[in-house]
Amino acid sequence: MTAPKIGFLCASLREGSINQQLQTALMRRFKAAGAKASKIDLNKFELPLYHGDLNTPGTVKKLIRKMKSYDGIVIITPEYNGSLPPLLKNAIDWTSTVSTDHIKGPVYGIASCTPGPMSGIMCMRQLQFILTRLGGEVIPNQVGCGHAAKAFDAKGNLIAQPAATFADTMRNAMLERIARKA
Ligand SMILES: Cc1cc2nc3c(=O)[nH]c(=O)nc-3n(C[C@H](O)[C@H](O)[C@H](O)COP(=O)(O)O)c2cc1C
Repeated sequence: MTAPKIGFLCASLREGSINQQLQTALMRRFKAAGAKASKIDLNKFELPLYHGDLNTPGTVKKLIRKMKSYDGIVIITPEYNGSLPPLLKNAIDWTSTVSTDHIKGPVYGIASCTPGPMSGIMCMRQLQFILTRLGGEVIPNQVGCGHAAKAFDAKGNLIAQPAATFADTMRNAMLERIARKA
């Protein structure tokens, strides 16, 4: 059996992002279970803010093609005011004007990391709703990681509980679902 191909899309591009830290830790965990893990780097797709009068930039189709190429996609996102950051919503909105194949194809996992205790729970809930609304299959076990400053060891491994257990539960559910689809 070929290794499942999992894409990791982080919705914070800033240097020092705690969600990028979580992305790195999750990629390691998936690789440890035999998956092929790689990043979907939104920096490479430079999408303007969606406006109905704009022509669709070529980067939208490029992003759709990239996302469609995966068996599974893990979205790791910060929470902004109890919701999705504009970077992520903009990418979903732009791509949805062209196709939903990249949402309907891969199995989705959701993760979020916050400096405070709440672990992005409101944002994850909304993201699950949006992906499902577009016809996506989302693993119900999400990875909420609060108190980010204490969540990782010196090597960047996710050590905090219950986040580490959530990560394994989501990973296992995602890989099992992908294996059943194959
Ligand atoms: C506009 C804005 C809104 C935010 N709203 C929330 C929020 O609703 N809940 C929360 O836990 N943190 C909130 N934060 C704090 C972020 O969780 C924090 O900045 C986090 O480090 C962002 O993720 P990153 O480090 O991956 O960029 C907000 C930050 C910004 C800039």
